[in-house]
Amino acid sequence: MESRRMAWVWFAALVISAASTEAIGVNWGTQMSHPLPPKMIVQMLKDNGIKKVKMFDAESSVMSALANTGIEVMVAIPNDQLEHMGTYSNAKAWVHENVTGYKDVNIKYVAVGNEPFLKSYNGTFLETTFPALKNIQKALDEMGYNQIKATVPMNADIYSSPEDNPVPSAGDFRSDIHDLMVNIARFLNSHGSPFVINIYPFLSLYENPSFPVDFAFFGGGGRSINDKGTQYTNVFDANFDTLVWALKKAGISNMKIIVGEIGWPTDGSKHANVADAKRFYDGSLKKLGSNAGTPLRPGPMDVYLFALIDEDMKSILPGYFERHWGIFTYDGKPKFPMDLLGKGNDKYLVGASGVEYQDAEWCVFDPNAKNQNEVPSSMNFACSNGDCTALMGSSPCSKLDRNGRISYAFNMYFQMKDQDVRTCDFDGLAKITSTNASRDGCLFPIQIVNTAGRRLAELGLPMLSWIAVLLFL
Ligand SMILES: *[C@@H]1O[C@H](CO)[C@@H](O)[C@H](O)[C@H]1NC(C)=O
Ligand SMILES: *[C@@H]1O[C@H](CO)[C@@H](O)[C@H](O)[C@H]1NC(C)=O
Ligand SMILES: *[C@@H]1O[C@H](CO)[C@@H](O)[C@H](O)[C@H]1NC(C)=O
Repeated sequence: MESRRMAWVWFAALVISAASTEAIGVNWGTQMSHPLPPKMIVQMLKDNGIKKVKMFDAESSVMSALANTGIEVMVAIPNDQLEHMGTYSNAKAWVHENVTGYKDVNIKYVAVGNEPFLKSYNGTFLETTFPALKNIQKALDEMGYNQIKATVPMNADIYSSPEDNPVPSAGDFRSDIHDLMVNIARFLNSHGSPFVINIYPFLSLYENPSFPVDFAFFGGGGRSINDKGTQYTNVFDANFDTLVWALKKAGISNMKIIVGEIGWPTDGSKHANVADAKRFYDGSLKKLGSNAGTPLRPGPMDVYLFALIDEDMKSILPGYFERHWGIFTYDGKPKFPMDLLGKGNDKYLVGASGVEYQDAEWCVFDPNAKNQNEVPSSMNFACSNGDCTALMGSSPCSKLDRNGRISYAFNMYFQMKDQDVRTCDFDGLAKITSTNASRDGCLFPIQIVNTAGRRLAELGLPMLSWIAVLLFL
């Protein structure tokens, strides 16, 4: 009797803990010059127990790789398609191709646009977002997918508290979009759809040099905000609860809120480094694992980390850090130890296996070459067409000497171009070497084999580069 009761208690505890902890999700972006094969990434997700992904479109190779995995997917419609979705038949065509077309993919949400009301978009998507949202939900419902919810991931810049009273309870939606946001929130709420918000303590710190550093993390000990007796010891909670207040003021008190993006970059600016990223992830994962929630929303939170892998083709307008958000490097290596369950059992996540690299060849600067006066323009060319963002941050690469920096820039371009010999010339300033050019703690990467490039190889196109070599001889 006693042991049977014990067993029941154990069973109940298991069920409760399984039901009360939301599994962590990840954002899977694909703005890379050399994306890892989607199947390899899906294997990484499985190996690390990641059961939810958020996408930025509905790329067919990615969707196919997710089929029959059970992984829960938030698929997306990019901002530049929002206007198109304003016509109902186009929305239906989208659902037909990208939902019906992937019956074996566990699609749970459709993200209609991505942060469309971002201040820096100057209102470009103000007119088109809500009609697109309504059309997509209507199409989903009519085509028999009413369990799939359409939503609009928003950046936390859609709401704020007044500067002279910076507490969550004083917060509301931005005045230029206030009524629109209230209408969207009410629409989502009435359809049982979640509000999706992206919250970036890193950006608070990046944009405001006098921001109290500790407040961006989760350890407490720094500044705290007292909101009528509620104590906020980190900016994430304060930010999240500002949204809860804004919704409350719109008459919505209990809708589901998903944190669509949370993360910390590892390069490209002062606070973008591995130590700070680890500190942020340790704190946030521990918080999530404990189901503490925020003062206004205690309990489990539904959160997607940003991001799974570095993306070397992302725009650097927001900052050089943009290409360094991954918890994995471009080639699927974990950057630092972490525990996705938030229990503090830090270890390196399981990386990609079976990655195919290009040859062990680097392109480096030849300081003895003629044409030294061409260095600035060559460097400019290499950096505009390659990726020099690691030179601009606080990582070891940023501390390279002049020659090292030039070599780094040349090599990144050469790798980006699949080691095509013609891309390691720079008016004779560069040469190819098989000696590992990495130095002073700065990794000079070798790119992975480009699947798109391989397709060209099958067509025999890279032969051209060999013809070029032969002609030069
Ligand atoms: C389905 O999604 C893909 C990828 O995002 C997009 O290119 C395509 O236009 C979508 N289909 C329709 C009919 O809108
Ligand atoms: C928004 O306006 C600013 C200032 O006028 C301009 O620099 C920027 O390019 C604009 N952005 C977009 C997306 O139109
Ligand atoms: C080059 O050296 C770096 C630093 O020692 C190392 O991490 C990297 O794996 C090496 N690259 C190759 C292709 O051997």
